Amino acid sequence: MKVAVSFLKIKDDLEGALKKIEVTDCDYIHVDMMDGIFVPSLNYSVADIRKLFKNINKKLDVHMMCSSPNKYIKDFAKVPNLEYLTLHFEAHRKPIDVINMIRHAKLKVGIAINPETKVHKIIPMLAHIDQVLVMSVKPGEGGQAFLPEVLYKIETLKEVREQNHYHYIISVDGGINRETALLCKEAGADMVIGGSFVCMQENFQKQIDQLR
Ligand code: DX5
Ligand code: ZN
Repeated sequence: MKVAVSFLKIKDDLEGALKKIEVTDCDYIHVDMMDGIFVPSLNYSVADIRKLFKNINKKLDVHMMCSSPNKYIKDFAKVPNLEYLTLHFEAHRKPIDVINMIRHAKLKVGIAINPETKVHKIIPMLAHIDQVLVMSVKPGEGGQAFLPEVLYKIETLKEVREQNHYHYIISVDGGINRETALLCKEAGADMVIGGSFVCMQENFQKQIDQLR
């Protein structure tokens, strides 16, 4: 199981925490960007993210919880080590246009779906997708409880991938801990996002090991 670490819950000494994540074996740092519109909270601009990660070499998995994801793509394309750029299906009238913009910017494309969004809505665009981010909590906040009713989406996405020879990875974000990561693994997930389970403990690596 791949593991990406979300540091959303960390408030003090963010730079120190990023250095700590950097020395773990996590596969990605998951960067939660919030615009105060798509979700109530507001955090970084692309420039803030670029600055924050100036001395970090891990690959980045950026989760845009933003209502106009198209606005940020050009700037994100200049951020070193950025591999996946994920928009929310619910955030744009024509997600396929944003998907194409991200591809043109030579970044890998992710599409996130809220817990209430039915998985069949994104099936027509899956041929162009590198990561599906199944939200297992309402986006916008760390530390919420995992919603097991989203597990069927992982199974469906796995079937659709096999039937069509698509290549996207299936990731799960929200309320991930040792038990829920196992449920995701059994359903067929390729990656989990570890937020408070990893970062609210002293030893990040020990927590990551439990999610693998
Ligand atoms: C939720 C964010 C998640 C969050 C995960 O809106 O997208 O990435 O930080 O945190 P935990 O694991 O604490 O639910
Ligand atoms: Zn996230």
